[in-house]
Amino acid sequence: MIHPRTLRVDNDRTTSVVCVVGAELNVNLNRSAPPSSRFFSVKCTSNVHYSITPPPRETNHLSPISLKGNPVLLISMRGASQHENDSKLSVRYYGENKEVLGKAILHLTAIEISLDVDADRDGDVEKNNPNKGSWKWGPNGHGAILLVNCDSERTYWKTLDHTQDSVTKVSDLKDMSLMVLRTRGPARLPEGYKLTMHISQGDAESVRVFRSGSSAGSDNALSLSYLYNAFVKTYPLVLSNEVLSQEVPYLGGIGEMKFYVEGLRFPDKDFNGLVSINLSLLEPIGQGLPETPIFTDRVMFRVAPWIMTPNTLKPIEVFVCSTSDNYHFLKGMRSLVANSGYKLKVFHEYVNRGDRWMQDELEFGYIDSPHHSFPVVLDSPRDGKLVDLPYDELLGPDFGYVTRTARRIDVSSLDSFGNLEVSPPVTVDGKSYPLGRIIIGVAFPTATKGRNMTQVVQDFLWAQKVQEPVALFSDWLVVGHVDEFMTFVPAPDRKGFRLLLASPDAGYKLFKGLQNDGHGQAKLFDGVKDEEPITVDQILADEEFQTENNYVQSCIDWNRDVLKRELGLEDADIIDLPILFKLKDDHGIAKRAVAFYPDMVNMIVLGKNLGIPKPYGPKVNGRCALEAEMCSLMEDLGLNCSFIDDFGSYHKLLGEVHCGSNVRREPFDYKWWNLEM
Ligand SMILES: *[C@@H]1O[C@H](CO)[C@@H](O)[C@H](O)[C@H]1NC(C)=O
Ligand SMILES: *[C@@H]1O[C@H](CO)[C@@H](O)[C@H](O)[C@H]1NC(C)=O
Ligand SMILES: *[C@@H]1O[C@H](CO)[C@@H](O)[C@H](O)[C@H]1NC(C)=O
Ligand SMILES: *[C@@H]1O[C@H](CO)[C@@H](O)[C@H](O)[C@H]1NC(C)=O
Repeated sequence: MIHPRTLRVDNDRTTSVVCVVGAELNVNLNRSAPPSSRFFSVKCTSNVHYSITPPPRETNHLSPISLKGNPVLLISMRGASQHENDSKLSVRYYGENKEVLGKAILHLTAIEISLDVDADRDGDVEKNNPNKGSWKWGPNGHGAILLVNCDSERTYWKTLDHTQDSVTKVSDLKDMSLMVLRTRGPARLPEGYKLTMHISQGDAESVRVFRSGSSAGSDNALSLSYLYNAFVKTYPLVLSNEVLSQEVPYLGGIGEMKFYVEGLRFPDKDFNGLVSINLSLLEPIGQGLPETPIFTDRVMFRVAPWIMTPNTLKPIEVFVCSTSDNYHFLKGMRSLVANSGYKLKVFHEYVNRGDRWMQDELEFGYIDSPHHSFPVVLDSPRDGKLVDLPYDELLGPDFGYVTRTARRIDVSSLDSFGNLEVSPPVTVDGKSYPLGRIIIGVAFPTATKGRNMTQVVQDFLWAQKVQEPVALFSDWLVVGHVDEFMTFVPAPDRKGFRLLLASPDAGYKLFKGLQNDGHGQAKLFDGVKDEEPITVDQILADEEFQTENNYVQSCIDWNRDVLKRELGLEDADIIDLPILFKLKDDHGIAKRAVAFYPDMVNMIVLGKNLGIPKPYGPKVNGRCALEAEMCSLMEDLGLNCSFIDDFGSYHKLLGEVHCGSNVRREPFDYKWWNLEM
């Protein structure tokens, strides 16, 4: 919507004015009329359209019209001018006896101006979308999309692209959103008029604008610094946090000037993700006076959120660490990943420096827009020995990086990303979450001294909005990660997945069944190095152990209820896995739980193939009863279990297969901007 502009015209003078096509000029006829005028008439050239309000009673437009009732002339232009002053309008004023008292003449120059973006989200910058100035979610929504330029075009001497205020490679432009200034009009703007582009101080923290300048190519461009400078000249910086407003060239005739808009930061607690860019036509008032805007066009962008990928999405690449003691684990992972047909990336000791917890240092996600999409790693504030891996090994061309920095004192084990998961798509009480919901573990709401995921990371996750997080209670575990008691696997029926939960009750039921069937003397941990075997009978006879497991079951049940409520699940969507825990005195602070035998729920999900910690359970007829139970539960879903020996190298260090691996997955087909919010 363009607001009409009031124009002064002076009797017996020629006023020249620039009018933007689509905008309206208002002329108050009484105000400019010579004294004792009673009537007026209007004439104009063909490019000018006018109307009078209130509409005159006189039907013959050539006969003079009464000035009674304070008439206003509304003027608009039918199309752009070829030359300055090429359109004209004149008003004649008459006295009582229709004698001519004066004449006011307008010389008009019409210009078409449109600042354009991909507001309909089809990958092309359409012309003058009526909705380009606002942003609306949903398939019938509108508004352009901006990516945070958080990858690095360089592989060596890396920096995040958005930390640089210049474009140094053409390939960097595709990470930005194209914005086009389309103009039509005479070869030059009339004397003193200019176009300026501007952003607010607040938005300048989140966005930067480059323009495509004159091509500065030259055959004798020999030195690198010359090339660099040529490039910087080719894409001059227009707007930044240092320059909030800048004149932009008017091309003349039919012109299209390209701009490249770069996102600088993700939505967060203090940033809702929306930024707008204005373009104004300024009119000169006189020597030494500031120009006034006579027309402003506006576009709005939303910065694309960071999106996580659930276990139900197709894997691309699996990441693990190699250490001096994890040969068996690596062997198992290699064959699982190879059989499943995915890529395996092993980080060797000179990179991992003995830190094997691949899950905990980072989370893979992606950002998406109609014009471009790329993976983005979220680097955890955990900062173990793998601290540099996300930046050094993953960041690169079309591989983005984001992190949140917390004070060391605020960082706990709950900040490891084994404590950050995401559900498959769900519908809850009619509300759909087509990208699933993020799941994190925090302290029990009643706990006064509990550990929590640090606020800066929580704020970041909540601000992304499109996978509204669910907070679970995980502080009852020594390590405190949600992946120690839950995971999701794909399923051919129902909601397309099952929630798997660790369950001491299911464990006791299985062991009692074994005892009843005469297998009470069957041993767990049989043949495991440095581990005392224990019989089924011994486990069942230990009352304190049973009490501890009852407590663990109640903690998991509390989470089960939250998950049922927040993900809209029924009991049939959940499978209990037979897993026992034991309580440990955690630094004298509290009694907290660890898995008693390898925690089968802490698995890696690769399509239909599951890599499960080998539980070393009691053997019945030569087969591990825990493995047999697991396989039979998963077979019903068409899933194939591989058991991976992580006992010495992960389980004993309070982690398992999932903690020791990470998976980059394909993005959702679903486009986040189609969400109804
Ligand atoms: C257009 O009209 C204005 C005022 O009448 C005049 O100052 C200006 O020189 C004109 N421009 C051209 C190109 O004739
Ligand atoms: C941009 O234009 C809109 C609407 O005309 C206005 O409300 C806003 O203040 C302008 N912002 C800047 C930074 O000029
Ligand atoms: C199950 O996985 C194992 C080990 O990866 C593999 O040898 C076997 O072929 C798989 N079976 C099916 C049905 O995919
Ligand atoms: C931990 O974070 C959750 C979720 O944001 C919040 O509800 C809870 O109050 C926090 N607990 C503590 C102990 O800070």
